[in-house]
Amino acid sequence: MNTEQFDHKKYAGELSKSSPREIIKLALEQFDSVAISFSGAEDVVLIDLAIKLDSNFGVFCLDTGRLHAETYRFIDRVREHYQIEIDVLFPEAKAVQQMVSNKGLYSFYLDGHHECCGIRKVLPLKNKLSQLDVWITGQRKDQSPDTRNDVPVIQLDKSFSSTEKSLFKFNPLANWSSSKVWDYIRTNDVPYNELHKKGFISIGCEPCTRPVLPGQHERQGRWWWEEATKKECGLHADNLEKK
Ligand code: ADX
Ligand code: SF4
Repeated sequence: MNTEQFDHKKYAGELSKSSPREIIKLALEQFDSVAISFSGAEDVVLIDLAIKLDSNFGVFCLDTGRLHAETYRFIDRVREHYQIEIDVLFPEAKAVQQMVSNKGLYSFYLDGHHECCGIRKVLPLKNKLSQLDVWITGQRKDQSPDTRNDVPVIQLDKSFSSTEKSLFKFNPLANWSSSKVWDYIRTNDVPYNELHKKGFISIGCEPCTRPVLPGQHERQGRWWWEEATKKECGLHADNLEKK
């Protein structure tokens, strides 16, 4: 389907209570160019669900250069387990080099994560998304009461659509809780990142992620030196829009 013909509001309403499988099915049925954005964490569930429906989707991963060794191993394990290609995307070397020469390898602790995330995640993502009609993410409402409470199952991606072409973002797990995701992983023998056995819940880059204590919210393990309401890195900047 031409993206301009897709009535995302209508489908978002109709599928607001549907299962992740139904939401992924719609994307795969309606569009030619669909990819799952896989972070190397529990969003592996998206791959497991999609592969059981069809094979006409891509999978990509933003390799910031700062992921945990466990995450790199996991990404490769997923590739072998499902026998799929995973498009591992790298940041532009020159931009990384310039930032690191000017400010060192840990500048985000001093002046915030936006510059580094911008170079290592957002720019490569932008290039990738320009080739797609739909990207499928593992965002869930329960991941962040401060920024993700209103994540719809389908949305127009205002940050990455262009004047020439609309891009849609599907969030099939939006209404699933963390425990539902983990029930699925256990019941379906889905492979998972070893970091989850070491106290990590939400997993991002190594210097910006830490395990959380019992009772702490998973988002407290990400960019812990920053305010909760700023904890989006530009991938999902729409979540910070004033409602
Ligand atoms: S983040 O923006 O704060 O880093 P989070 O880790 O919660 O995002 O993940 C939410 C979703 O964003 C993931 O399920 C995935 O779809 C996408 N995502 C996050 N990090 C990456 C990554 N490194 N590569 C690909 N997709 C990612
Ligand atoms: Fe850089 Fe941290 Fe963002 Fe990773 S999460 S890109 S290391 S600021």
